[in-house]
Amino acid sequence: MVVRIVETFAETRRAARDGAGTIGLVPTMGYLHEGHLSLISATADIADLVVVSLFVNPLQFDDGADLAAYPADLGRDAELAKAHGADVLFAPSVAEMYPEPPVTTVTVRDLTDRLEGAHRPGHFDGVATVVTKLLCGLRPDVASFGRKDAQQLAVVRRLVADLSIPVDIRGLPTVREADGLALSSRNVRLPADARADAVALSRGLFAAADAIEAGERAAAAIERIAEDEISRTPGIGIDYVALVSQDRFAPVDRLDRPAVLATAATVGGVRLIDNVHIDVVGDRFVVDRGRRLERRSVLYEEEPCC
Ligand code: PAF
Repeated sequence: MVVRIVETFAETRRAARDGAGTIGLVPTMGYLHEGHLSLISATADIADLVVVSLFVNPLQFDDGADLAAYPADLGRDAELAKAHGADVLFAPSVAEMYPEPPVTTVTVRDLTDRLEGAHRPGHFDGVATVVTKLLCGLRPDVASFGRKDAQQLAVVRRLVADLSIPVDIRGLPTVREADGLALSSRNVRLPADARADAVALSRGLFAAADAIEAGERAAAAIERIAEDEISRTPGIGIDYVALVSQDRFAPVDRLDRPAVLATAATVGGVRLIDNVHIDVVGDRFVVDRGRRLERRSVLYEEEPCC
């Protein structure tokens, strides 16, 4: 099947209905990298028809310059998405998505007060609003999000539960470069001399993961191990290292429920986030460190992004 590029909600729903069966949605802002491609492949494995949305959502940008500089390459996105199992690309205009400046928006309280929410006021309102519109407008059976954006995933799960939106939200493992750096469209902004330093984030998280697997349960000790390891690399500005619950993103004293060990730090002038999810499987804690690529990722050479 040739991937179809459509611009309206109505046409996308029609295209989705043409192929009977379950519909999977992968929401993106375009400019796809392997993190997105792995979401598309995983969704193609479980849904009969895969819709990938490409929309740079103005509502979630606190900085107009970031929005203006956001890169786009629909042709390349279409090729990559198709090669990984997408059937329909939903690429709406701002006018299709927001015919008028919205006076109805979605705010997920409490869990957006902390960490990334505290750092980027209003950002999660923009994410929650656009994701609600995509879920209600396209009505997928499943929608896939990366665990890399852990707080965004918690926000989406919560809004779907609170608003009784009938969709199965899947959180899929972070994709990493071979050296452990989590894939992000921001990585291309890293100056060459800071690229190696950026691996300190995953090194810190993995050191803490080793301690968890060896039985450490005290949040303060787990956070300290990660922080000590990250700060061994000079020039890294740590914003936070925090062990929080997976559902509310609330600080925990002890690891006694599904949790996320999350960090944000500035490396070479670029603010990066990373995390490991700690899942409860039976009576064990299992750390999801993500999946490493064997080869260097398909990333654009020099484009800024956020
Ligand atoms: O993660 C992203 O790319 C965006 O926040 C999302 C979920 C597509 C909403 O604009």
